[in-house]
Amino acid sequence: MKVSHVAPAVAPAVVMAVVLVAATLYAVLPSATGSPDHMQAPVRVDGPLRDLAGRHLLVGTAVDHAAFTADPVYRDRVGTEFSSVTAENVMKWEVVEPERGVRDYAAADELVAAAKRNGQRVRGHTLVWHSQVPAWLTDGVGSGEITPTELRGILRRHILDEVGHFRGKIYQWDVVNEVIDDEGNLRDTLWLRELGPGYIADAFRWAHQADPRAKLFLNDYNVEGLSPKSDAYHQLARDLLAQRVPVHGFGAQGHYGVQYGFHSTADVVANFRRFEDLGLETAVTEADVRMIMPTDTAKLQAQAQGYGVLLQGCLLSRRCTSFTVWGFTDKYSWVPGFFEGEGAANLLDESFAAKPAYREMQAVLALAGR
Ligand code: XIL
Repeated sequence: MKVSHVAPAVAPAVVMAVVLVAATLYAVLPSATGSPDHMQAPVRVDGPLRDLAGRHLLVGTAVDHAAFTADPVYRDRVGTEFSSVTAENVMKWEVVEPERGVRDYAAADELVAAAKRNGQRVRGHTLVWHSQVPAWLTDGVGSGEITPTELRGILRRHILDEVGHFRGKIYQWDVVNEVIDDEGNLRDTLWLRELGPGYIADAFRWAHQADPRAKLFLNDYNVEGLSPKSDAYHQLARDLLAQRVPVHGFGAQGHYGVQYGFHSTADVVANFRRFEDLGLETAVTEADVRMIMPTDTAKLQAQAQGYGVLLQGCLLSRRCTSFTVWGFTDKYSWVPGFFEGEGAANLLDESFAAKPAYREMQAVLALAGR
């Protein structure tokens, strides 16, 4: 079911909600009672997410390389549940060029090879960010040893080399990550300070040169719905396109917290739609819904709703091509290390058992009829 041509924006969300409730009820009816011929078979709402999503929406996860190597249960679930993977860390600059001029794609190559064996696509994350930049680079800029002119050359090399290394193997690249702040201004980073605002267009051009077929994305958090920050991204995308910069997609990370509440599905759709109207693809790139610990039934239900909003927002958009969660089990998650007292942000618990959020994703995908 693809209902995204229905206007106004709120209508599909309502339709979807009604269908969801109806079919959930339908799915719990006993199936052996002999339904009349004119009734369709109950919608199947179990099974791996990638099967329920079908061919049109890629459902992905970030992959923790250490867990993938050490934990066979984790590795197995990555392969069976998802049709897309993102390296959680091992494609970031500090990992791929730990010392100046020394490139190490070994861990990333392992993930790409495993993805191929599993029939999965790979999202590339990320080329230009203010975080997880190698120390030799930040130190060199700080001491004045690396001049702005040299830095521009270093950035160009980094992008040409990394995108070139994976040429033909990555379907979407997060070219620039988190380049706008919450007020809607270009974020004050080493890149902006040293190179000026043109570094963004440069990064896209270099990435396109190295892999003309990869879809090149802007990516950030707090941009799921309409806001000054997503307004600023919309303006940035328009400016880049007006300069014929090869930008192809807008990624909303989707890091939510139960305690903050969520956007409405209609808000996400309205936001994604305006980027799609510019000719861009959209994607949810890092969905997770954290909570203040400990968990309880109400928080887990709210969490399911948060995932549901993001997934329905994507499904109801015209060109939302991938939906990625930032890890899928509470056994391995970045959240407790970054948000004090918070956790349990993922679809499965620490023993890989399904939480309500996982069931919600199954139901939404199944009922979308993909
Ligand atoms: C996080 C990883 O999950 C952590 O393991 C790492 O220590 C820090 O980065 N936004 C992003 C991701 O774009 O790259 C971040 O990933 C989470 C926030």
